[in-house]
Amino acid sequence: MTPAGPGTLAGKRILLIVGGGIAAYKSLDLIRRLRERGARVRAVMTEGARQFVTPLAVGALTGDKVFCDLFDREDEHDVGHIRLAREADAIVVAPATADLMAKMAAGLAGDLATAVLLASDRPLLIAPAMNPAMWSHPATRRNAAQLGADGVRFVGPNAGEMAETGEAGVGRMAEPLEIAAALEDLLGGRETTPGALAGRHVLITSGPTHEPIDPVRYIANRSSGKQGHAIAAEMARAGARVTLVSGPVTLPDPAGVTVVHVETAREMLAAVDAALPADVAVMAAAVADWRAADAQGDKIKKDGSGTVPPLKLAENPDILATIGRHGTLRPRLVVGFAAETRDVVDNARAKLDRKGADLIVANDVSAEHGVMGGEDNTVRLVARDGVTDWPKLPKAEVARRLVEEIARRLG
Ligand code: CTP
Repeated sequence: MTPAGPGTLAGKRILLIVGGGIAAYKSLDLIRRLRERGARVRAVMTEGARQFVTPLAVGALTGDKVFCDLFDREDEHDVGHIRLAREADAIVVAPATADLMAKMAAGLAGDLATAVLLASDRPLLIAPAMNPAMWSHPATRRNAAQLGADGVRFVGPNAGEMAETGEAGVGRMAEPLEIAAALEDLLGGRETTPGALAGRHVLITSGPTHEPIDPVRYIANRSSGKQGHAIAAEMARAGARVTLVSGPVTLPDPAGVTVVHVETAREMLAAVDAALPADVAVMAAAVADWRAADAQGDKIKKDGSGTVPPLKLAENPDILATIGRHGTLRPRLVVGFAAETRDVVDNARAKLDRKGADLIVANDVSAEHGVMGGEDNTVRLVARDGVTDWPKLPKAEVARRLVEEIARRLG
């Protein structure tokens, strides 16, 4: 995690909207973390939130009155929802439940939390938290995409075990420290230089690919797409026109980015080709090296004899190498990723040459580092002119630094 320490939010007025989910207990710690950084925190609680934590506990931590009711005459007289919305430098919704996200996406304003959100023009960060089935439901996907398009910033949700059911999947609320770091980003402390990539077209691949074996089975990998999507979002913030070619992921489409959804490596290559020309290519996808040589149109059945069907593999096209060695349409800067479990720098150097890239972002994906699907990344930037080590950073911060580096190299 970034050294987000005392004072980084000094003087900032944060309005925290606590939604009704079990993760509301983590919002108590979030308040502490925000105040530790110098923020003044006011809290609004939904009716659902009050089923999980009490206004007394929240108010004890914010050191302020807690606002709950849109129709409370005293509250409305004191501050009122319009003032609550305006007298904040940023609004954080944590946890953002599926219900709250749906209401926000639809512009509903039936209670204090949603009325404040609708009345606000402040930067808005939401930390979704829900059961994985609810997060992956098409309705929530739609709402998340809409909110992204409306300029709402997301932190999480993370993969992990759910508090209530022990079920694993994506839906856990981001940790308070991650939310605090995302808020610092949002408030401009660590933003990419505005306009650093204005007028540039950046082409990014992200996520895994799925290679079908038959209609129900496929070959995949553990890539979540978080790093590639974070880069796309950051490029857009730096003013670039961004085309993101994404394999199957559970992340919302980043705001202000043209997203092409694909499944297989061959589809990814076709989409990348179609998106050229570009000034910069960042190939962050974990493309499957192999696909099933004879994918079946019908489901492969067990024949009862105990014999295992052979799985013959064929090599997929290398998208990075194709782009890196493209004749006339080669982007000026071609950036690849290297997922390694040993000899990180040597392997990255070899990839630089083999694939015709200018820069390789190398990371150690040994299981103990938890990079695949995790929130942080420890990378080494390998170029022909040298190697730069970055400390362990949240993926959003890796994205920001990479965008700065690319802007610098473009000159
Ligand atoms: N890549 C690609 N197309 C492929 C395979 C990889 O575009 N078919 C890109 C990835 O997006 C990444 C880089 O190549 O930018 C490195 O991928 P990686 O899997 O680390 O390297 P490989 O080429 O697969 O080499 P190896 O598996 O031997 O490490």
